[in-house]
Amino acid sequence: MSDDRDDLRSHLAGSGAPDRRAFIQFLASSPLLTSAGVSTLVGALTAGGGALAQSYDVLRAPASKVGDVIDSPEQALNVMDFEPAAKKALPPAHYGYLASGVDGDETLRANHEAFSKIRIRTRRLIDVRKIDTSITILGQTYNSPIMLAPVSSQGAFNPEAEGAVARAAKVQGHGMILSTVGSTSIEDVTKDRGAPVWYMLYPTDDWNVTEALVKRAEAAGAPAIVLTVDRQGGRNTETLFRLPRDDTRDCKMCHGGGFANEVSRKPMFDDLDVSKVNNLYGTGMTWEFVDRLRKIVKGKLVLKGIVTHEDAKESLNHGVDALIVSNHGGRAEESLEATIDALPEVVKAVDGKIPVLIDGGFRRGTDVLKGLALGASAVCIGRPYCWGLAAFGQPGVEAVLKIMQREFETIMRQVGAVKISEITSEDVTRG
Ligand SMILES: Cc1cc2nc3c(=O)[nH]c(=O)nc-3n(C[C@H](O)[C@H](O)[C@H](O)COP(=O)(O)O)c2cc1C
Repeated sequence: MSDDRDDLRSHLAGSGAPDRRAFIQFLASSPLLTSAGVSTLVGALTAGGGALAQSYDVLRAPASKVGDVIDSPEQALNVMDFEPAAKKALPPAHYGYLASGVDGDETLRANHEAFSKIRIRTRRLIDVRKIDTSITILGQTYNSPIMLAPVSSQGAFNPEAEGAVARAAKVQGHGMILSTVGSTSIEDVTKDRGAPVWYMLYPTDDWNVTEALVKRAEAAGAPAIVLTVDRQGGRNTETLFRLPRDDTRDCKMCHGGGFANEVSRKPMFDDLDVSKVNNLYGTGMTWEFVDRLRKIVKGKLVLKGIVTHEDAKESLNHGVDALIVSNHGGRAEESLEATIDALPEVVKAVDGKIPVLIDGGFRRGTDVLKGLALGASAVCIGRPYCWGLAAFGQPGVEAVLKIMQREFETIMRQVGAVKISEITSEDVTRG
């Protein structure tokens, strides 16, 4: 009964006045309740609280049939509900760009499926009514351990692109990483986020361009430069190559004219001489490049794409401040190694000396908890917020973040953790 009461209280707490009146009328007309019962129940329901209860907001969303593609963010029950809506909203080629992994997309699938092999150990009889999900990482404090991974070319998903994402991140205080090949400049994104964002660097093969990108990002206040190191070998994005076959538009209208054109039309390359840039990805980077970069980065230097203990240990010898365990969302190589499975060896190798973040396949609040329990300091998501962006713009991104955060808070309470530091390896089990 008290569960029901909490649920109903939450319903009322989240309702506008007309809804509340209608709901009380509904209760009054219910054959299951006497009038004395109604007034007791309504008194209990309106007596504050409700934050712990399941939200019934979705019941007020416009109705659609089971199996229908959602047509408003409020209808979503989980973040996966946004993917078909994004597919419906996007031209096939752009959806292919977002959806693609490499080769047979098996690593992309493995990233998420690996979570189902990790179970959660729940604890009882702990007062979890008040919880704090904030984190401080590399000197920055965020309200949530869920951060937004760098995703390039978000103009392909919505004209407001990274600006809409930054405004959504601001609403609930999430950290955000902007890609070098984003559709929006770091100055505009910083303004929309209302706080500095981390800057993900594809350094190019021209050091002058590298230096200029770092300087510009730092001038905009970026506290961290995130060097992505997992795209050096080339890749075969089959899904991206296949889906444009269903697209009736002429891709060359927007994507014409060689590599320099691809780079120079991105705002982070405005006013830069990119005539000597031959490659954004396969630049022959080595640890010496990391040393060289370390010398010019004034703030924190993060490596994104580390998945082994060997590379994690080596990072410590080169002044790296944090790592992101990542396989680019299954877009780098078909390793079949899920990032959540690679996380423990990286965490062990750095031995608490620097924070370790992770991304790849995080779709549920329980996935976030598992990542933190296995030693991550924060978790990044990529595709889910882009599904929200593609389907509904800023409100879609907000909804994705809200759902994942709500799920995360629920499972945090169920394991008896009232703050992030109370999430430990004792909360999960395998085998
Ligand atoms: C369409 C797309 C573009 C991406 N662009 C970049 C990028 O420019 N730089 C980068 O470091 N990672 C990029 N990533 C990888 C993400 O940062 C992140 O590692 C990945 O999306 C996490 O996996 P998830 O999508 O399963 O959450 C991209 C991912 C996608 C789906």
